[in-house]
Amino acid sequence: MTIPFMNLARQNQALKAEYTAAFERVLQSGGFILGKEVSAFEEEFAAYQGVAHCLGTSSGTTALHLALVALGIGPGDEVITVPNSFVATAEAIAHSGAQPVFVDIDPDTYQMDAGLIEKALTRRTKAIMPVHLYGAPAPMERIVKIAHKHGLEIIEDAAQAHGTGLNGKRVGGFGRAAAFSFYPGKNLGALGDGGAVVTNDSALHEKMRLLRDHGSARKYYHEYIGYNYRMDALKGALLSIKLRHLDNWTAIRNQRVALYRELLAGTTLKLPVEPHGARCVYHLFVVQVEARGKMIEFLNGRGVSTGIHYPVPIHLQKAFSGLGYKAGDFPVTERAAERILSLPLCADITEDEVRQVCQAVIEGLQ
Ligand SMILES: Cc1ncc(COP(=O)(O)O)c(C=O)c1O
Repeated sequence: MTIPFMNLARQNQALKAEYTAAFERVLQSGGFILGKEVSAFEEEFAAYQGVAHCLGTSSGTTALHLALVALGIGPGDEVITVPNSFVATAEAIAHSGAQPVFVDIDPDTYQMDAGLIEKALTRRTKAIMPVHLYGAPAPMERIVKIAHKHGLEIIEDAAQAHGTGLNGKRVGGFGRAAAFSFYPGKNLGALGDGGAVVTNDSALHEKMRLLRDHGSARKYYHEYIGYNYRMDALKGALLSIKLRHLDNWTAIRNQRVALYRELLAGTTLKLPVEPHGARCVYHLFVVQVEARGKMIEFLNGRGVSTGIHYPVPIHLQKAFSGLGYKAGDFPVTERAAERILSLPLCADITEDEVRQVCQAVIEGLQ
């Protein structure tokens, strides 16, 4: 038996005819960057998330950076976020010139612990960047209240949260802007890098639109020193095709997670707790296991691939040593980082494969 961590080949094979038609169309058009394919996808994705505006970008990282820069966040500012994320969250903040300030997470949901935010505020705090990790929502209602009270911006890192909801509202519209990633392995993945930044604020949207394309609204006239953060036409065309399948893929992911939960209940594994009022879209299914190294080896031996998201919290990464954090600063994140294990999950994993993974995990626990 071989069960990969995720299998993108099956999904892409099934859509090959639709991809080929889109490729022919883009080839014929001669327009390869932005243009109507990207605009169409932007409209569709904005509607999907329930927000007014969307801009396709070159990646999720550049989408985060674009929002920070457009909001005027830069040197001398601090942005509160979590240390248990992909490094890009903190990288985008650092690239804006601001300093990431971390707060610990809830041990059961892995989301930002909103109760710690006010303790991390200083006169320099300008924004909060919650991460909707693993496809579950951060506690946005509490975060929004704190941000309003202290006059802070919110930029949601929704890179792993396409369609995630909280009390009937989709993520992306809780703050001033939100960034999504279409990295191939994401729930909505491009064939290559891609991202989007969404907002309900028309002026912010317009500023980000210019900054995405060298600060220019009109060719060779530049209002800002901008960036090349544009999305390719072919990526937009293929993402439109994939977006039509996203609800179905999410339903399959969530069914597979329900089966994992059923089969692993009663074991010594710690299973993730869904935040109250959440509509999770399960980008990853992350459990905690005491003897993780031994379990990974055992599962490898059974042909089951796993992942760790993420093995080293950002505050302990060499790249961020300049921030002055040390081991012990975020005990919940650090404890989780030593035990978390992501089990195989994608929209194409079969029920039978989930059963085989669980069988192997249960044997590995003995
Ligand atoms: C939480 C989080 N933030 C940001 C990113 C950055 O997205 P990208 O890889 O598209 O730049 C990712 C994905 O890789 C992510 O998982």
